[in-house]
Amino acid sequence: MKILILNGPNLNMLGAREPEIYGDQTLDDIKGLCLETAEKLGQAIDFRQSNHEGELVEWIQGAREGFDGLVINAAGYTHTSVAIHDALKLLDIPVIEVHLSNPKEREEFRHTSYVEPVAAEVIVGQGAKGYALALEKLGELL
Ligand code: DQA
Repeated sequence: MKILILNGPNLNMLGAREPEIYGDQTLDDIKGLCLETAEKLGQAIDFRQSNHEGELVEWIQGAREGFDGLVINAAGYTHTSVAIHDALKLLDIPVIEVHLSNPKEREEFRHTSYVEPVAAEVIVGQGAKGYALALEKLGELL
């Protein structure tokens, strides 16, 4: 079972970025947790981050081949990107939306998600553990 894990803009700054909201774990720490969880579940993961919307769109398009599931934290693009929404609609593999914080309990501009309508499950407010929960959910679904 091969899972693509995508991270959007500014998540490369975790650790330094608003630790009171996102915690002090870095994206590398989260990758480590994902690798550990995936190994236990017998999954192979490909963990990526980009600050560029078009690159994320291309990676999502590419997931049509060779991947069984997708975990995505689209970060700020969650609330703005019709392009990411459209790309996700191309997929016939399950998509799990993850956020470290709970965007719906934050500023109003974070309350809309363009990922949510195409997600099989949305996991919010669990910090880094949310990624592990997303892999477990995919393990159940697949
Ligand atoms: C986030 C929430 C988004 O609103 C924000 O723009 C992020 C991180 C989260 O993981 O909590 O960059 O996706």
